[in-house]
Amino acid sequence: MGGFNLENISLITILIILLFVWSSRFEPCHARQGKYWRQSKTAPADSQFLQKEKLHGVSHHHSSSLTKFMDSYYISPDETMETHKGQSSATFNVLDYGAKGDGHTDDTKAFEAAWAAACNVEASTIVVPSGSIFLLHPISFSGPNCAENIVFQLDGKIIAPTTPGSWESELLQWIEFTTIKGITIKGKGVIDGQGSVWWNDLPTHSPDSKVTNELRKKMPSTKPTALRFYGSTDVTVTGITIQNSPQTHLKFDNCTSVQVYGFTAASPGNSPHTDGIHLQNSQDVLIYGTDLACGDDCISIQTGCSNVYIHNVNCGPGHGISIGGLGKDNTKACVSNVTVRDIAIQDTLTGGGSGSVQGITFSNIQVSRVETPIMIDQFYCDSSKCSNESSAVAVSNINYADIKGTYTRNPIHFACSDNLPCTGVSLDTIELKSVGEDSQPFCWNTYGDLKGTTVPPINCLQSGKSSKKVVYC
Ligand SMILES: *[C@@H]1O[C@H](CO)[C@@H](O)[C@H](O)[C@H]1NC(C)=O
Ligand SMILES: *[C@@H]1O[C@H](CO)[C@@H](O)[C@H](O)[C@H]1NC(C)=O
Ligand SMILES: *[C@@H]1O[C@H](CO)[C@@H](O)[C@H](O)[C@H]1NC(C)=O
Repeated sequence: MGGFNLENISLITILIILLFVWSSRFEPCHARQGKYWRQSKTAPADSQFLQKEKLHGVSHHHSSSLTKFMDSYYISPDETMETHKGQSSATFNVLDYGAKGDGHTDDTKAFEAAWAAACNVEASTIVVPSGSIFLLHPISFSGPNCAENIVFQLDGKIIAPTTPGSWESELLQWIEFTTIKGITIKGKGVIDGQGSVWWNDLPTHSPDSKVTNELRKKMPSTKPTALRFYGSTDVTVTGITIQNSPQTHLKFDNCTSVQVYGFTAASPGNSPHTDGIHLQNSQDVLIYGTDLACGDDCISIQTGCSNVYIHNVNCGPGHGISIGGLGKDNTKACVSNVTVRDIAIQDTLTGGGSGSVQGITFSNIQVSRVETPIMIDQFYCDSSKCSNESSAVAVSNINYADIKGTYTRNPIHFACSDNLPCTGVSLDTIELKSVGEDSQPFCWNTYGDLKGTTVPPINCLQSGKSSKKVVYC
């Protein structure tokens, strides 16, 4: 890994709980009737398609900063594999469908029309040209009846509206791609959520002359994700930048075979709930060569995810890479077979944390001024009602190897439940130095072993097996 560009940023003391209700979503698409799309904005609130997600958080504010981009991690889309086969010559430029690209005119209809046309042609390309700024209202590119392997070539800039009237309440995302087989978003373009207007629980945010607190108060309470993929297979996102999302920047839900590389997410470190990438109910996910700077988890891997491989990612500011998280009403949060390696994490809350998960490997993680680099917390909970009822699912087979760098609070914090201790926690070659408080590694009900040397010495792991019955997903 190359040299890290470190900045002195004040540390995060943020406690977050993610609670979500996830319900199935199905979206019809009447291709033969010329309705290839549906504008989310127009969906009735009681629609069967409505998906709800709730976020609750407590945050303490701190100074804002963006990391420098890490050139060494950037892998040009041209140098890497193209997942879509036989790109056809059919291109559909949004300017030919009436988009103005002047940054003021609502270009939503033009994008919908270009999608409707591209949808008919296998391996076609929608072109969003450079040199223009396109204002898009909430939009859904829906594809169950579309041809496969469509490319969305984004070289221009897409911006979100900042007027409250443009947003339906409880709308969960701004730009959505649903039920598509083979979709690639690539290019040098930028998707800008203009999120500061939503960050209303952020009184210290640097004042934007156009955005008054009055306006912030009028935005819906549900903050949308900038770009979300749902129920799709063979999804690739590469080259583009998503910045200033109202909430999560890039989200995959119920997707299989996902690749993200050469991607950038950029939001201030004090923007609330702005996860970089959020994975849920998705399998076979590969994320690499990516630079994530945001106000919440750089990558959050939630329930229903398996076979996830993440490498060469720069994270910071942010909250590190989190795995697990207990679903609402004690629904099971099952995550398995996740590998996280060759990661640089700076100025974050945790390096890698987990809960309710099995088969996780964190290796070659370089941390700089991270509050608690190694953390498992089965008591992770909403501060309003913390109880000792921790997660209902076992945490087992968690491997940490080659975790090096500096911490500011605890080198290691393993808080496992009394009912279900963590088992099979392996620590191999740990070198963590304090640049703040000098506290000892903490383990509660954690079984596992040490391999190689560890600095500081770790004496709190219990050897052998727990006598408690382990419940797997
Ligand atoms: C997930 O997506 C697939 C493919 O679009 C769909 O068939 C399935 O019903 C979805 N599952 C859920 C739980 O929504
Ligand atoms: C774990 O995930 C990797 C991809 O990251 C995959 O190649 C491997 O087959 C998976 N292992 C199991 C046991 O499913
Ligand atoms: C949780 O359990 C610990 C140890 O068993 C105990 O000391 C603590 O008081 C309990 N907390 C609550 C909120 O029940």
